[in-house]
Amino acid sequence: MVDRCVCYEKKFSDMKAVIDKYGLKSIEELRKYMIFGENCKICIPYIQLIFETGKTSFDVINFNISNE
Ligand code: FES
Repeated sequence: MVDRCVCYEKKFSDMKAVIDKYGLKSIEELRKYMIFGENCKICIPYIQLIFETGKTSFDVINFNISNE
């Protein structure tokens, strides 16, 4: 289960609370309120899913991220 940005110890549920409180629409807007996702960046596609689904925990997803 994926439920946080591990690198910055930020729970998705805490992110969702900020998203809802301020009516945020994007990761860029959320960055104004907290620091996350600037190290390995594995959490970024999941955080995008918070905006799209409202969920705060996810099964591990293969996003097919390519390094090419
Ligand atoms: S888990 Fe979020 S930057 Fe690494």
